[in-house]
Amino acid sequence: MLKIDGVSRRFGSVTALDDVSLRIEQGEFFALLGPSGCGKTTLLRIIAGFETPDAGKVTLDGDDLLSKAPNRRPISLMFQSYALFPHMTVAKNVAYGLERERLPRQEIKQRVGEVLETVGLSAHAGRRPGQLSGGQRQRVALARSIVKRPRLLLLDEPLSALDKKVRADMQLELKRLQHEVGITFVVVTHDQEEAMSLADRIAVFDSGQVRQVDEPVALYERPKTPFVADFVGANNLFQGAASGLDALKSEEFGMLPGTPLTELEAGAKALLAVRPENVELVDESAARGLRGGVLDVSFYGGVSHISVDVPGHPKPVLVAVQGASAVQTGAKVRVRWDAQDAVIMAVDQ
Ligand SMILES: Nc1ncnc2c1ncn2[C@@H]1O[C@H](COP(=O)(O)OP(=O)(O)O)[C@@H](O)[C@H]1O
Ligand SMILES: [Mg+2]
Repeated sequence: MLKIDGVSRRFGSVTALDDVSLRIEQGEFFALLGPSGCGKTTLLRIIAGFETPDAGKVTLDGDDLLSKAPNRRPISLMFQSYALFPHMTVAKNVAYGLERERLPRQEIKQRVGEVLETVGLSAHAGRRPGQLSGGQRQRVALARSIVKRPRLLLLDEPLSALDKKVRADMQLELKRLQHEVGITFVVVTHDQEEAMSLADRIAVFDSGQVRQVDEPVALYERPKTPFVADFVGANNLFQGAASGLDALKSEEFGMLPGTPLTELEAGAKALLAVRPENVELVDESAARGLRGGVLDVSFYGGVSHISVDVPGHPKPVLVAVQGASAVQTGAKVRVRWDAQDAVIMAVDQ
């Protein structure tokens, strides 16, 4: 439905977007994920029409978008700050866009009523934004965005202003809402957990370029580049060379088990990534595994995180276990994993 082809945008010496191409399907919940400053907002602003690319094409349902003024595009952009009118009631805030389009009074009333029902704010229609909680203000902003029935709703860091608990509720809410209204959502976030929990597919950005587009589970289990492996979720990374086998050849540790994601020539520079939940702690007398000492054990309720100092490795190896940990700080252990639970990827020279 939305096609972005070779879009670039420079600001002076800064390249905000560098030849970005993406396809977003109708009805998708799509996330643009990446660290701060990687160009996510710039891309949303280009789609919405508040920014013009230096090169590239953007089409929606086959129509060229870039030649259309922002208000002629069937797109809503929900800003990071919700930009609600403080002196207007919730209902007035939501009705505003429809009134500007001069829709019949009766239709406006009906649509505002429906959308407030959808976001669970019918009882608050007469309040002003200042009398609402953060989560409720967020819902007003959402209601205002969807009441116009756009083809595409763009959300820039929609949940970043909310505290953790409210954010978790709103994540569920956003998903339900998207399902219910059937509008295609493109959400920008720097929070990888948020992107994973919300989106059908995620595009990972780095320095203005798309590094990988995939479903959350694929992104997590089969990162294609070192950047993605490092940015999406916690990972233990080992440098070395491809061996031609299901193993990475490491200078410090010899052969480390892992599965190459692509055909790699033996000797090529490579990186092995293994998730903390796939690393097992075994007794120091075990036959195999990297020797180390437990630096720290942190209990998080459902899981414990154990960090192990492995001499020769620049960072502690992270291990995640269900529930409480059986080992304690200072214990001598070995860490090991199976080849099928670690991935080996090429490193660009
Ligand atoms: N209007 C602008 N003028 C100059 N530089 C800009 C402008 N907008 C964005 N940039 C720069 O472009 C880069 C990407 O910005 P942005 O798209 O806001 O990133 P993100 O949303 O991923 O944090 C940053 O280096 C930012 O400073
Ligand atoms: Mg931004």
